[in-house]
Amino acid sequence: MLIFRTPGELQQWALAQRARNVKVGLVPTMGYLHEGHLSLIAEARKRADAVVVSIFVNPVQFGPNEDFEKYPRDEARDLARCEEAGATAVFLPTPAVMYAPDASVFVVEERLGQGLCGARRPGHFRGVCTVVAKLFNLALPDVAVFGQKDYQQAAIIKRMVRDLNFPIEIVVAPIVRETDGLAKSSRNVYLSAEERQNALGLSRALALAAEEVAKGPCESQALRQKMVRLLEQSALRVDYVELVDAEQLTPVAEAVPGTVALIAAFCGKTRLIDNRIL
Ligand code: PAJ
Repeated sequence: MLIFRTPGELQQWALAQRARNVKVGLVPTMGYLHEGHLSLIAEARKRADAVVVSIFVNPVQFGPNEDFEKYPRDEARDLARCEEAGATAVFLPTPAVMYAPDASVFVVEERLGQGLCGARRPGHFRGVCTVVAKLFNLALPDVAVFGQKDYQQAAIIKRMVRDLNFPIEIVVAPIVRETDGLAKSSRNVYLSAEERQNALGLSRALALAAEEVAKGPCESQALRQKMVRLLEQSALRVDYVELVDAEQLTPVAEAVPGTVALIAAFCGKTRLIDNRIL
């Protein structure tokens, strides 16, 4: 497995692949890899000849009071997991090689990022779009794989690719969960045993929404209230509970099959997100 630590090394390799007509797949991550990330690598391998995994805790997408410093990192374990998953190359840059000290060009999506996590984490998706656009220019992938776990992020990336004409196919892979329903996340390591139990409230509230909608259309406000109640009973502090249109991410008055339910909630100090297409 190849290891690149600078943008130049990755881009040179990518240009050589392109010249040889090798189809490249990219899986962008922030590391501390779990089975969710590994499922994206497996998906990329099905769709490309060579797979690049990027591991970069991107400072630009973290707010001043967020967990950039203490975000979990384990380079040795991540490299072993990438190798086992069959990655061709891993890109492990530092912030210093990714961003010039006077960097002044950023990518901003102006519609889909207004609500949900965009409203709660100002500047977050500007950081995500900027780093993903840079990774696209470095890895020159034919296909890039993202997880539905970050539903709004995937929608924004698809919009960026459409609106800026990146010649890249975006694939969104399903959410990988623990057997009890908790969505896998690098941030789950922050949870105490008690919080880990409470965290089940997210997937349970989403299951409740899916059950209700399976019975017939539901008035959104009433359904949201039921979900909020379940979350609060699990000792979770609700950041948002939303029922939105799958494409536009705008709130719907009535939840129907195909509506997306999204939750962000604090479990102790840890902010968790989850979603489900109803
Ligand atoms: P990170 O949180 O490491 O996630 C990397 C990719 O893994 C994302 O596409 C995310 O949706 C996916 N993923 C995370 N948990 C998953 C799960 N349980 N099942 C399936 N896929 C899952 O998202 C980011 O990093 C960053 O914002 C990034 C896109 C790398 C830009 O910095």
